[in-house]
Amino acid sequence: MQFNDIDMRRWKEYDEIITDSLWILGRRDNSGAHTPEYHGNFVPQIPRQAMLRFTRRGEWVLDPFAGLGTTLIEARRLGRNAVGVELSEEIAEKARSFVSEEPGETVAEILVGDSTRPETFEAIREIMDTFHLVILHPPYWNIIRFTERREDLSNAPTLDAFLSAFSRTVGLVRPLLAARRYLVLVIGDAYRKGEWIPLGFYTMKAVMDAGFRLKSIVVKDIQENRGKRGQYSLWRYRALRGGYYVFKHEYVMFFQKVGR
Ligand SMILES: C[S@@+](CC[C@H](N)C(=O)[O-])C[C@H]1O[C@@H](n2cnc3c(N)ncnc32)[C@H](O)[C@@H]1O
Repeated sequence: MQFNDIDMRRWKEYDEIITDSLWILGRRDNSGAHTPEYHGNFVPQIPRQAMLRFTRRGEWVLDPFAGLGTTLIEARRLGRNAVGVELSEEIAEKARSFVSEEPGETVAEILVGDSTRPETFEAIREIMDTFHLVILHPPYWNIIRFTERREDLSNAPTLDAFLSAFSRTVGLVRPLLAARRYLVLVIGDAYRKGEWIPLGFYTMKAVMDAGFRLKSIVVKDIQENRGKRGQYSLWRYRALRGGYYVFKHEYVMFFQKVGR
């Protein structure tokens, strides 16, 4: 079974596709419908790499933490169908308008809902019941608070509550993913009360425990975003004083579904 459109007889010609585990992606792709506006969004190069490698044209991608729809815009660009779920009505509305600016014929639907609840997945099934790739870009616990809502993972009162909400989503996503297909997790760690909280490794374990095989841990560079520009020397000072290192990386982890 082939999970992509790569012609292996011409494998040397696919310069764009990264196969190393260190991704220095550099600047965000802000072309077309992509917007740098939302501070929690990921660079479009991440879903692009995942889709080129693990889906074929015309297949279906699910993003349960859709935000401003970066995955959906990129899916359209690559001729893939995509469904996103976003808790915030307001963010979902904006995402729909960005996504509609991207030309293309494929399906790109954003549902408003809570991705930790079974009824949200019932609504997804009404659009499509088999997906070929899942991309999870949850809040990095409470690093950025996205909404005031209790169901928002960024408002989880404790680390355990965050991890169990995240695990509920993984459990709900699994039956919708076709056998042997990939789930991609994009996440960074957190720093709290003088302690590094390895959210990446905790969530990695949660995905593995839900019946997925770990295929790769990619470390991706974090570029200074607009909000943090000019503050680097402050972070460096704090790091030197506090005995820690400034976050310059996050993780893109690749898992394959085991069993049916
Ligand atoms: C890190 S952002 C994702 C950004 C997205 N990848 C993009 O490029 O725009 C996480 C998103 O998850 C949403 N969210 C938080 N809790 C949720 C939940 N329980 N169900 C669905 N979405 C949720 C937040 O509102 C936020 O927009």
